[in-house]
Amino acid sequence: MDILEAIKNRRSIRHYKADAVDDEAINTVLEAAHWAPSWGNAQCWRFVVVRDPETRVAIADTLTKVKVDNDWVENAAAAAFKQAPVVIVLCAELGRAGFRSDGTPVTDKADYWFMFDAALAMENLVLAAHAIGLGTVIVAGFDAKKVAQILEVPDDSTVVTMTPLGFPGHKGQVSPRKDLSEVIYRDKYGK
Ligand SMILES: Cc1cc2nc3c(=O)[nH]c(=O)nc-3n(C[C@H](O)[C@H](O)[C@H](O)COP(=O)(O)O)c2cc1C
Repeated sequence: MDILEAIKNRRSIRHYKADAVDDEAINTVLEAAHWAPSWGNAQCWRFVVVRDPETRVAIADTLTKVKVDNDWVENAAAAAFKQAPVVIVLCAELGRAGFRSDGTPVTDKADYWFMFDAALAMENLVLAAHAIGLGTVIVAGFDAKKVAQILEVPDDSTVVTMTPLGFPGHKGQVSPRKDLSEVIYRDKYGK
């Protein structure tokens, strides 16, 4: 699939078929993620592939309610973590991206560059999944500390985000984007 087509046609998928996803497909999306650029090629990302149904349910239970029009409602992706046969949890090793080898920060955003690198990897992953006919939904509305406990993530690393991975049970609705003119400025910010 052409890269531009994949970017435009990928949708967040929140309903999944129970059909199994084979190791080859999982490796394809993980390899795509792993080819993402990263700070100093630090590759601070770590992926936990969860197939175990009980663990997926435990992870689903960490999803937090979200506020929609003044009401707190279930996270729309919660069921997806139980339906899809695979969940991929993206962790990051701390103190690598944005830091020199002596541990000093390189910029004022040193504490955040791991998020940036993780996001690049996740974007590659979801696009690769779409290209091979699999669905994903990037999720951040969950208790990362609880997921870290479930997966026994060590203290030098953190859980950043996660996605179910499986065959889409629906097409996925188009979430409209702002007009480009609203987000692109010329020469000066705001112009
Ligand atoms: C950082 C991040 C966090 C997100 N967290 C959630 C979430 O907790 N639950 C959910 O259902 N979708 C979540 N999403 C998916 C967004 O709602 C979705 O990407 C957006 O509405 C655009 O739709 P699209 O992905 O179909 O283009 C998240 C996406 C990103 C990038």
